[in-house]
Amino acid sequence: MFIPQEVEKILFTEQEIKQRVKEMGAQLTEDYKGRNPLFLCVLKGAAPFFTDLIREMEIEVQIEFIRASSYIGTESTGDVRLSITEFPDIKGRDVVVVEDIVDTARTMSLLKKYLLDMSPASVKVASFLDKPSRRVVEDFRADYVGYSIEDHFVVGYGLDCDQRFRNLPYIGIFKT
Ligand code: IMP
Repeated sequence: MFIPQEVEKILFTEQEIKQRVKEMGAQLTEDYKGRNPLFLCVLKGAAPFFTDLIREMEIEVQIEFIRASSYIGTESTGDVRLSITEFPDIKGRDVVVVEDIVDTARTMSLLKKYLLDMSPASVKVASFLDKPSRRVVEDFRADYVGYSIEDHFVVGYGLDCDQRFRNLPYIGIFKT
């Protein structure tokens, strides 16, 4: 298995991730039965989680993509950028935002506000990881969380450090 020297320790194995995504898919399937939700992928980090999660959905869903960035290296810049082209009409739709990790929650709270302005039926957030100890937007809670983790900088399964290590099939702690 490829474990780059920058990875200190594996936090979640490929098998653990697969199992957890399956459970999240089952929960979302149950909650969104009969509602034809729109799953919105926050690029680039959420891409692997997103493609795994939608294939665990046992109901009809639609998909869309959005791009957000705020990190340079292992530091959050606090300057969240959303890049949105050809945004779908979400008026009256149930939207599930799919994210890799909620950290300060600046990205998700900004995106959620943006989406709520478009009069959807609902907006929920499904994040594979959550780092609650890092919150800046104190009251933000993701509606579906794979794992809550300590304050580690992690890479793999879509998560990067300066665009590296997104392709690792596991989630590892980055050596800082
Ligand atoms: P927030 O706006 O601070 O919640 O930032 C969320 C975004 O920061 C995520 O979508 C990731 O792209 C990035 N991020 C936060 N923590 C980590 C980490 O531990 N590893 C890699 N990226 C991270």
